[in-house]
Amino acid sequence: MTPKTFKIKNFGCQMNVYDGERMAELLGERGMSPAADADEADLVVLNTCHIREKAADKAYSDVGRLRREDGSKPLIALAGCVAQAEGTEAKRRSPLIDIVVGPQAYHRLPEMVAEAARGARPVDTDMPAISKFEALPARRRATQSAFLTVQEGCDKFCTYCVVPYTRGAEASRPWHDILAEARSLVDAGAREIVLLGQNVNAWADEKRGLADLIRALAKIDGLERIRYTTSHPADMTDDLIAAHGEVEKLMPYLHLPVQSGSNPILKAMNRSHTAESYLATIEKMRAARPDVAISGDFIVGFPGETEEDFLATLQIVDAVRYASAYSFKYSARPGTPAAAMEDQIPRDIMDDRLQRLQAKINEQQLAFNRSKVGCDTQVLIERNGKLAGQMIGKSPWLQSVHVESDALAGDIIDVTLVAAGPNSMSGAERQRVAA
Ligand code: 5AD
Ligand code: SF4
Repeated sequence: MTPKTFKIKNFGCQMNVYDGERMAELLGERGMSPAADADEADLVVLNTCHIREKAADKAYSDVGRLRREDGSKPLIALAGCVAQAEGTEAKRRSPLIDIVVGPQAYHRLPEMVAEAARGARPVDTDMPAISKFEALPARRRATQSAFLTVQEGCDKFCTYCVVPYTRGAEASRPWHDILAEARSLVDAGAREIVLLGQNVNAWADEKRGLADLIRALAKIDGLERIRYTTSHPADMTDDLIAAHGEVEKLMPYLHLPVQSGSNPILKAMNRSHTAESYLATIEKMRAARPDVAISGDFIVGFPGETEEDFLATLQIVDAVRYASAYSFKYSARPGTPAAAMEDQIPRDIMDDRLQRLQAKINEQQLAFNRSKVGCDTQVLIERNGKLAGQMIGKSPWLQSVHVESDALAGDIIDVTLVAAGPNSMSGAERQRVAA
């Protein structure tokens, strides 16, 4: 039976959210419509993530749960990074899976669905660099803050990471394609664009770099805010840093993962930066844009990490003063060099380190939020809050702000930040000028 309705379930990073939107557009173009949930859908796409532990096991158990009480099941497509890593093995491990489609092949999803409807079980985990974008339809719908993938893949080969294997080699989309997609997103209602790439600041098209792209995007009328994520410290060019001081629409926020504050661990991770070079980059960034909010990622318990190494991580957190940060326990990923390293760290030590690190990060986040109390700023409204008349949006520093307002999603309003919590701010709307 040809499926008429679909449900896409996204896991993992923002790029998966973007990919999920594009798959929905492709299926929509073929006359399929979105279902409210997986139970009602003829086709369910699990858009999976492989970055941390038990990702594959979790995906297979999610697949199992799609079987319905009456014994029937939807067509099931395994997509995303687990699909890439498992390939044809996925069909063997779960007879319920009809389609296996990797992140570089999802433009073929509609035809694979048609094949599956005829009883085949197609697999496509080819990695033709970036060409899928040419096969994707134009953007017609956009939320107020829209993701736009500009770069995909990674050549850095950090020793713990699966991304070079699941997303392939670094590849940049062409300049004109990105600008065209940005314009169509703005026409469709986007006020903010978040440029995505596993190494977004390595984006390049001939002589142009990410800073040039940002300057060109800033000229688009109706586009008010630009962000980009995730950056690698080694690709943080002076030009990109300078853009933060020049381009008003570029938000004062930088997600720059450091992973560890210990140079021997950074070396074992193959990070190609040191604690000192990272701090120097942060310093330059603050010179260009003093109010910039810095965010980061950390891994605790990388193989061989001593208490001394971990203390160096706490030290770099103190030195940077993060506005927010994500921290993870090291998870051995099959096929990565670090998985075969000696001296894997016991779980209880990882738990203890993660707790200590997160306590420090939480303190800093609260301190950052408190430092913004009294600040007059602007909030991009995203959605209704829990209370009547309350709206939730984002400050330039990516804080969630609760504000009483009759503004709608997509409005940018003037707000004074009046109170700070650990995870959000309260704001008071200042006089509203009619649009
Ligand atoms: N174990 C734990 N955390 C990891 N990350 C990436 N690979 C691993 C792994 N094997 C974290 C890094 C990265 C973020 C997206 O996920 O901190 O920046
Ligand atoms: Fe997960 Fe990385 Fe794949 Fe994103 S790119 S879905 S974070 S494994």
